[in-house]
Amino acid sequence: MASAVDGPVGKRGSLAHALRRVLPGVGVVLAAGCAPGADGAGAGESAAAASASALPNPSAVQRVAFRVPAESEVRDTVVLASVRRGRALATFTRDSLPRHVGNGLVCTNCHQQGGTLENGMAWVGVYARFPQYRSRSGETIVIEDRINDCFKRSLNGTPLVPESRDMRDIVSYMAFLSSGYPVGAETEGQGLPKLEPLQGDSLRGASIYLMRCARCHAVGGEGTQLGPPVWGPQSFNIGAGMARVRTAATFIKHWMPQDSAGVLTAQEAFDVATYVDAHPRPDYKGKENDWPHGDPPPDAAYETDAARKKRTATR
Ligand code: HEC
Ligand code: HEC
Repeated sequence: MASAVDGPVGKRGSLAHALRRVLPGVGVVLAAGCAPGADGAGAGESAAAASASALPNPSAVQRVAFRVPAESEVRDTVVLASVRRGRALATFTRDSLPRHVGNGLVCTNCHQQGGTLENGMAWVGVYARFPQYRSRSGETIVIEDRINDCFKRSLNGTPLVPESRDMRDIVSYMAFLSSGYPVGAETEGQGLPKLEPLQGDSLRGASIYLMRCARCHAVGGEGTQLGPPVWGPQSFNIGAGMARVRTAATFIKHWMPQDSAGVLTAQEAFDVATYVDAHPRPDYKGKENDWPHGDPPPDAAYETDAARKKRTATR
């Protein structure tokens, strides 16, 4: 694919020309950004440029208010059945898809209330943000890849077949939660709120954990009837986002303890996150291949090959 693009560029010196040969229709987008006629554009392309200027400005990222749609907005009963089944799979993941879940968690243990709460790693609007470049994989991924990332890491399991009914239904549910969000739009309250990074202390974290968390997550981290596991063999694996202290601290600061969220200071959240993430949990095979361009976040839970190479090269 890359060589098909590279070839004509070399010969004609025009990326627009090359892309038009490879991807018919791409000229419409390019024409909007190029001076008319720069590439010998004909009359057809000026017409395309004129119609492209009616599109919204692609350089301005839209931020759209958080809105959970009502089921009554879904007109098609077959689609509605798929949306409902997708929501059920995300809520009862372990019981519904036992071959794909390798720990004691379900999707909605982390994605609050079925992914419908602002600042709770919501799935509202998420469908509009894919395809997306991710530095962890070093490439553009589609939403099925992102969902499978959480299966492989957060649920310590195995990926769904992208074309399977289970994957389609989960995607349907997310597309439903994204109704009305234009492609590429950001959602107010997506992900987790920002929290300034602090240095956590796991000794202080241990006493906070015993006082504030053990009641539901157990002294040994394996969970109780009141809360899921937070470390050990039934927890998310080392490759999961929650294994990074900053992500865990931010989640804990805003959502834990579940029955009195908000009582922890930012420092306490970092202390207890440091304590939780310091415990053993399942490994993630191939984790050293993450962030292949050598740009891991500062709180990455393991060293990657690309980062090691970069470090030795600059020594
Ligand atoms: C242990 C916690 C945990 C579990 C369980 C979990 N996830 Fe995630 N998920 C995360 C974290 C952390 C992120 C990254 C959030 C961020 O960066 O704001 C994420 C991100 C996502 C995203 C991208 C969200 C966005 O805004 O771009 C999707 C989609 C997703 N998860 C789907 C799922 C599905 C489906 C399941 C169940 C199969 C699942 N997750 C289970 C922690 C979890
Ligand atoms: C009242 C019970 C309760 C208390 C206390 C509590 N949690 Fe939780 N916690 C939960 C429940 C329940 C969930 C899953 C949320 C859901 O399913 O909606 C959860 C989810 C989590 C998760 C993400 C899922 C997982 O298991 O990895 C983490 C991490 C976590 N809690 C950490 C903590 C920490 C740290 C504390 C103490 C500061 C704490 N919790 C206090 C009940 C509790």
